[in-house]
Amino acid sequence: MLRVAVLVSGGGTNLQAIIDAVENGTITNTQIVGVISNNKNAFALERAGRHGIPAQCISPKDFETRDEFNRVFLDKVNELNVDLIVLAGFLVVIPEMMIREYRNRIINIHPSLIPSFCGTGFYGLKVHEAALERGVKVVGATVHFVDEGTDTGPIILQKAVSVEEGDTPEILQRRVMEQAEWKILPQAIDLIANGKVQIVDGKVSIAQ
Ligand code: GAR
Repeated sequence: MLRVAVLVSGGGTNLQAIIDAVENGTITNTQIVGVISNNKNAFALERAGRHGIPAQCISPKDFETRDEFNRVFLDKVNELNVDLIVLAGFLVVIPEMMIREYRNRIINIHPSLIPSFCGTGFYGLKVHEAALERGVKVVGATVHFVDEGTDTGPIILQKAVSVEEGDTPEILQRRVMEQAEWKILPQAIDLIANGKVQIVDGKVSIAQ
């Protein structure tokens, strides 16, 4: 059983997609052992509670220094004894010591086709605003391993989504979630849980 912690900051629709996929058997061999949010008002925490998943909040705001936060944050994750950390709309920078300790065991969902519209400042709705501003015709989502850079780690899965006439950032965001994010994030977890994901020369190779 792959022990998974899901880290969230907001509504938690990606968390919900993971929970549903575990419950309906789309994700196999996996147990969600905890949800952590930096935001005590995150609806994601309620979603976890409804499904009997232990949920907790830890915010940098409650600590005097970032180092102190980082240490306690790492302790909380370690206590869960996890094989995989899933960032599902988690908007806190992952401490370097956590990246080192969990090398190739942290994945993130990003709402664009990396390397477009990613890196510092590109998160949430901003990504979709930038895509519409540029006038691209195809957008999408990416699941990738987390390394020390921002959205630079090895890419596991990507899925493209069409931009349509009259799209607003909100409409586009919803389409990208429905058609891409909620599919490829559970799929990536299932592949990892079943030993199908390997990193070779910094790139992901997926066994058939
Ligand atoms: C998702 O669209 C996710 O891709 C994005 O935040 C949203 C969270 O929604 N993540 C990033 O922008 C990370 N750079 P959710 O809380 O409903 O899953």
